Amino acid sequence: MKMQSREEQTGLEHLFLDFMQMKEFAKNPVIMKSASGVWYKDVNGKKYLDGLSGIFVVNVGHGNRRVIDAIHQQLEELVFAPPLHSTNLKAIELAKAVSGLTPGDLHTMKFFSGGSESTEAAVKLAKQYHKQTGNPGKYKVISRYQSYHGSTMGALGASGTTKRKTPFEPFGPGYVKVFPPTCYRCPYGLNYPECDVLCASIVEKVVKEEDPHTVAAFMVEPIGNTGGIITPPPEYFRILREICDKYNIVLIFDEVITGFGRTGEWFAAQTFGTTPDIICMGKGISSGYTPMGGLAISDRIAKAFLGSGDQNLEFAHGNTFGGNPLSAAIALANIQEMKERDLPAKAKKRGAQVWQRLEEMKELGVVGDIRGKGLLVGVEFVRDPKTKKQFPESMKFGSLVGKKALQKGLVLRFDPHWIAFAPPLIISEEETDKMMDIFEESLRETLASVN
Ligand SMILES: Cc1ncc(COP(=O)(O)O)c(C=O)c1O
Repeated sequence: MKMQSREEQTGLEHLFLDFMQMKEFAKNPVIMKSASGVWYKDVNGKKYLDGLSGIFVVNVGHGNRRVIDAIHQQLEELVFAPPLHSTNLKAIELAKAVSGLTPGDLHTMKFFSGGSESTEAAVKLAKQYHKQTGNPGKYKVISRYQSYHGSTMGALGASGTTKRKTPFEPFGPGYVKVFPPTCYRCPYGLNYPECDVLCASIVEKVVKEEDPHTVAAFMVEPIGNTGGIITPPPEYFRILREICDKYNIVLIFDEVITGFGRTGEWFAAQTFGTTPDIICMGKGISSGYTPMGGLAISDRIAKAFLGSGDQNLEFAHGNTFGGNPLSAAIALANIQEMKERDLPAKAKKRGAQVWQRLEEMKELGVVGDIRGKGLLVGVEFVRDPKTKKQFPESMKFGSLVGKKALQKGLVLRFDPHWIAFAPPLIISEEETDKMMDIFEESLRETLASVN
């Protein structure tokens, strides 16, 4: 790779990137300069296929004309309105538009600047809801090991990704974890369907042991990213919904990744046929043209926050940039684009293509499990598919494949044992094939180097 210019090298010394050892990164830095469609170009002119939508964000692709025009137009008109005294036309329009896409009675919106603000607010909303509906003792949040709900202390307390949270422990009290539905490696040593989906039904036992009068919410990613595209069996969410209804627990879907068409429907709640009480949104809501997040709240919960001015029932929560007119205008244009091009349906189609290619790669003898929905597909690597024996931890086989792909100009999400594909939903059939070609080549070369 061509050397970076002097200024760029100096600049890097002043940066910390996400979850990144900067000394390693600085040896061979990737510095993006521009992007169009599903392609990035770096400062050296090298092209990269965006197999990850940045980080599950750019659902409508890069350089979308409608969104760019909406930005220009809104910049001329209004970029900020006083949040304590007013709202703006674009925020109202956006709330209406999103409430037409959400499942069930999730008709009330609150907007934020990103995913962590959304998950943090969802838990606060659930706690305040219980306080003002006669259950002030409900404060615990049940969530899952291997999950990730964001970087702030509350969101991280609910998260279950060990290496991201232990440096900051202890968190506040009241976070309870259960095992996620990792069927390929069931934590209970069972097999689906004979297991009767114990990973879901056991939540009732956990609630009882904790005391139902103390449990406020269950927060869950419909498909868990950090654990390796953890995809539940069909009955999983129905069982969780029943338990939450029985014990008056607010069911929160963290759809920061899975929302806005990613899994083949507007929300994964629809993909899995279960309506939660709150949906957390982020990433794809604006396709990254502005930092943005939000909550969709059920009528039942929203009602508890309505009353006269002196009752103090309003949600006691605010973020300066939530629902600002510029972000709202961008999200609106983004949604309009997705609707007109029916991108959720495209996600399903292209996802099936990715899946098919991975099935064909089983002949290489290291594809253990393929998981996901729509254009969120993961593959777990194994040394031996029959025994599910993994590659040695120290080899970090998945990361080797992912790094090789990056060298070849393909951006993917990779971990020691798995890789995920989540390109922009506009990706064409040919581009999908190109993505899978580069991946297959990277996999074959990595295999040759370790065998
Ligand atoms: C499922 C999930 N929830 C929440 C977040 C936090 O979002 P943000 O990084 O925008 O704060 C993330 C970020 O990756 C996520 O994947």
